[in-house]
Amino acid sequence: MEKKQLDWGNLSFGYVQTEARYVSKYSNGAWDNGTITDDANVVLNECAGVFQYAQTCFEGLKAYTTEDGHIVTFRPDLNAARMVDSARRLEMPAFPEERFLDAIDQVVKANAAYVPPYGSGATLYIRPYMMGTNPVIGVKPADEYMFRVFVTPVGPYFKGGAKPITIKVSDFDRAAPNGTGHIKGGLNYAMSLHAIVTAHAEGFDENMYLDAKTRTKVEETGGANFIFITKDGKLVTPKSNSILPSITRRSLVYVAEHYLDMKVEHREVEFAEVKDFAECGLCGTAAVISPVGKIVDHGKEICFPSGMQDMGPVTRKLYDTLTGIQMGRIEAPEGWIRTIL
Ligand code: PLP
Ligand code: COI
Repeated sequence: MEKKQLDWGNLSFGYVQTEARYVSKYSNGAWDNGTITDDANVVLNECAGVFQYAQTCFEGLKAYTTEDGHIVTFRPDLNAARMVDSARRLEMPAFPEERFLDAIDQVVKANAAYVPPYGSGATLYIRPYMMGTNPVIGVKPADEYMFRVFVTPVGPYFKGGAKPITIKVSDFDRAAPNGTGHIKGGLNYAMSLHAIVTAHAEGFDENMYLDAKTRTKVEETGGANFIFITKDGKLVTPKSNSILPSITRRSLVYVAEHYLDMKVEHREVEFAEVKDFAECGLCGTAAVISPVGKIVDHGKEICFPSGMQDMGPVTRKLYDTLTGIQMGRIEAPEGWIRTIL
């Protein structure tokens, strides 16, 4: 297989249309067999559930080229399970987990020429998503759905790559205490657009959302969970029912405990204690681990001792171990790596 001639080292986190994607349709209470198609367009009735009431959810994961030349995905079973949770919360039919894994394998195989080479700094981002497709005008779930998977080769989510970013404490709330913050529904991202455009216009890279009820606890950003490192080297990750259960964060907790012999606390994190941490980062599939150098709360700056030049030393160890596992340089825990090619 001949790789596409792309400038792998300079890709941004953007959409590059590839040749193949997967589609399966749900009607009369059942999913069809699904197929690979070259049609990147989705044509739906004007009254489709997804257009009127945002009945849609998605996932995000990556395919990597390993040091020994295989193409693998990282813990895709957890994405399959999370998509089932998202679908249930939005009254959509679950796409069976085994079929989710198979669909991803098929799309990655069909687009192998777009999987960035080992060491290029780029990866293949995989976007599974689901939507209500038949007309609904009264507020109710659709009866028909489409599940699709496309891929796009991507570079770093934040422009500077591993350069620390600056974030602001948002005045907007991301998720209500008993709302939908814990699932990957498109609605959570639509409501974050005004907040991120505002933050960018003010010169910030991202938002830190606080808990909507008390506005005293750290939740997450628009697209990643937080990790903090204490001055004595512990990993602390915020616990909340209204944040997305990040697969990267759950993996880092394991890596910290079992590979790096670190103590880990997964607990509520008061915003008031953030100033005492030594390092801060964002973690997620797109973000990988993006170091945070500064947090600004209405003009009051929290500058982490790790500074604005480089990742802090503990964040660096977590980053190197996680990406080492993903790229096959470090042996993975049982079941974490799915070899596709
Ligand atoms: N939080 C939000 C709101 C996200 O959109 C994402 C991205 O998927 C994450 C956290 C990180 O989750 P994961 O590590 O599973 O990609
Ligand atoms: C991901 O990390 O996969 C996401 O979905 C986050 C999004 C901001 C790109």
